[in-house]
Amino acid sequence: MARSLEELQARYNSSAKGRMPGGPGGRAARGAGKEVLSKNSGRTVARILSYLKGYRALIVLVAFCMLISSLFSLVGSYMMAPVIDKLSKAVNPDIATNLNAISQKIDAFLTGITGGGSVMQYLLAAMIMMGTVYGLSALMNYVMSRIGITITESVLKKMRDDLFDKLQKLPLKYFDGHPTGEIMSRFTNDIDNIDAMLNNSLISIISGIVTLVGTLIFMITTSWLLTLVVVVFVPIFLFGGLAIARRSRKYYSANQAALGAVNGYIEETVSGQKVVKVFNHEETCAEEFGQLNGDMREKQFRAQFWGGVMGPLMGNTSQISYAVTIGIGGILILAGKLSPGGLTVFANYSRQFSMPINQISQQMATIFSAIAGAERVFDVMDAEPESPDKPDAADMSAMKGYVIMNDVSFGYVPEKTVLKHINVYAKPGQKIAFVGSTGAGKTTITNLLNRFYDIEEGSITIDGVEVKEMKRDELRSKIAMVLQDTHLFTGTVRENIRYGRLDATDEEVEQAARTASAHSFIMRLSEGYDTVIEGDGTNLSQGQRQLLNIARAAISKAPILVLDEATSSVDTRTERHIEHGMDRLMKDRTTFVIAHRLSTVRNANAIMVLEQGEIIERGTHEELLAMKGRYYELYTGVRELD
Ligand SMILES: Nc1ncnc2c1ncn2[C@@H]1O[C@H](COP(=O)(O)OP(=O)(O)OP(=O)(O)O)[C@@H](O)[C@H]1O
Ligand SMILES: [Mg+2]
Repeated sequence: MARSLEELQARYNSSAKGRMPGGPGGRAARGAGKEVLSKNSGRTVARILSYLKGYRALIVLVAFCMLISSLFSLVGSYMMAPVIDKLSKAVNPDIATNLNAISQKIDAFLTGITGGGSVMQYLLAAMIMMGTVYGLSALMNYVMSRIGITITESVLKKMRDDLFDKLQKLPLKYFDGHPTGEIMSRFTNDIDNIDAMLNNSLISIISGIVTLVGTLIFMITTSWLLTLVVVVFVPIFLFGGLAIARRSRKYYSANQAALGAVNGYIEETVSGQKVVKVFNHEETCAEEFGQLNGDMREKQFRAQFWGGVMGPLMGNTSQISYAVTIGIGGILILAGKLSPGGLTVFANYSRQFSMPINQISQQMATIFSAIAGAERVFDVMDAEPESPDKPDAADMSAMKGYVIMNDVSFGYVPEKTVLKHINVYAKPGQKIAFVGSTGAGKTTITNLLNRFYDIEEGSITIDGVEVKEMKRDELRSKIAMVLQDTHLFTGTVRENIRYGRLDATDEEVEQAARTASAHSFIMRLSEGYDTVIEGDGTNLSQGQRQLLNIARAAISKAPILVLDEATSSVDTRTERHIEHGMDRLMKDRTTFVIAHRLSTVRNANAIMVLEQGEIIERGTHEELLAMKGRYYELYTGVRELD
């Protein structure tokens, strides 16, 4: 039975928001424009601008080009006045042409270069000159855009770099609270919005203002009376434009929310495609998707209507002022107060005048989104990083691997203790095993050892030095880990194994692969060690992925080894194979092994049985069996199942 549209929207919108607030779902909140701008907006803008600091000279150049370009374009149109007047005079010598100062100068210049020749010559000269002026304006525009884009893209690169650098410094805790999709969206949607603002809005708004002011000046010099007529219309179009912009923003938000729901649904269904098929949910999915999709069509229609149709329509309506201008201008000509050329130029300007007003009101939405996007980007940049290493951090280069956990208690969140009073003692070369049911806290112990999380209670020391007194890099370089969830990067098999120690030779890579019993399957791959692993190793089996992860740990020379369910997906025969290699590897290293399959931990020096964050039994395999406690239960139970 498919769920209702409301139910779906509530679920997928909130999840889409949760997953990617910067993404489609989250844009809903941002698109709302003014309403979402916090009082920090000023600070955010200042911070965006601070990224432009290094480009002062270029920005001045951009501004200069913008000014010249606008000016030339205005002058270009102005040249029509003397030309038309000249033509009018040629047709009817009695016509009144009261050229103003600028027109007179242009006229004198044109007459000068044609040596007072024929009207045709005058016309040709005017054409060439106008073409040159417009050409220069275009050239300036080109230079301005080119430099503008260079600046913007450099700024955005810097932002992405800063963001990525910051991500590498954030503690794991941060990622617990921020799903991948959400973080991704800051690199994509949010930065894109800033891009749109810096590249389009900012330039078009500033050049819009320059054009506006320039046009106004030229209009006044032509006819102050007509200027007054045009200016009277401004508030009407300004408010009309703003009202439409506000409306379109509202529907744009609704559209983004609908898009968020659709995206969230697709994302979930695609990544869970196997489960969908297993439970025969294809039809329900199609039905539910249909509902969300239909809803999006409606909202998209409104958004497009108000943004794409009404906005430009408003622009066209503003041509009413054009008609009025022509009417009044005509009367002025008849009264001898304006020349035909003057009216032509003026009509042209009055058109140009309304354009930037429309443009500016439309760009405001982009600016609001960009500021909100920037706020989210800066949020990450301001998140508290991992505490810095102590300046007098101990030198652990010669670490032996005496590990002592003393009365350690820990919780990921303050209100829930996951580990309680853990005591572990391990000498170099010893193998310590953790067993216990799912969620008991085994992985958590290893997370504390290499300071993925810092503890508040108790102490963890290696060779007598507290781990929090060590440099994180150094500590982690001394602990080779096979994590419970395998991860492979896009790259060749060789590169993936070498990730464990970058200076390893090809022989060492192969040696490590042999230790992990991965060599034979690697050789069976099409390109052997040079086979490219795609998307987290989807072209490998789960067990093969684990073997590569083990090889990666085996190549490292770290004195401490942690194997968290390292062979859980590997068949028992291969596992036994690995054991031989691993025994060699574990020699002289302190090893912590976590396994549900108890046969793999039998030869450990000590086995800790964890239950709900507490070590409830400890001892060797034989001792624990003799105890006939929890371990005995687990072991005999598992054996029966075997
Ligand atoms: N990042 C996290 N944030 C909050 N709680 C967490 C986090 N990781 C684990 N936990 C909680 O801590 C407890 C112990 O988890 P842990 O991963 O250590 O279990 P485990 O013993 O390794 O289980 P398994 O055998 O399933 O791997 C669980 O109750 C789990 O819900
Ligand atoms: Mg675990």
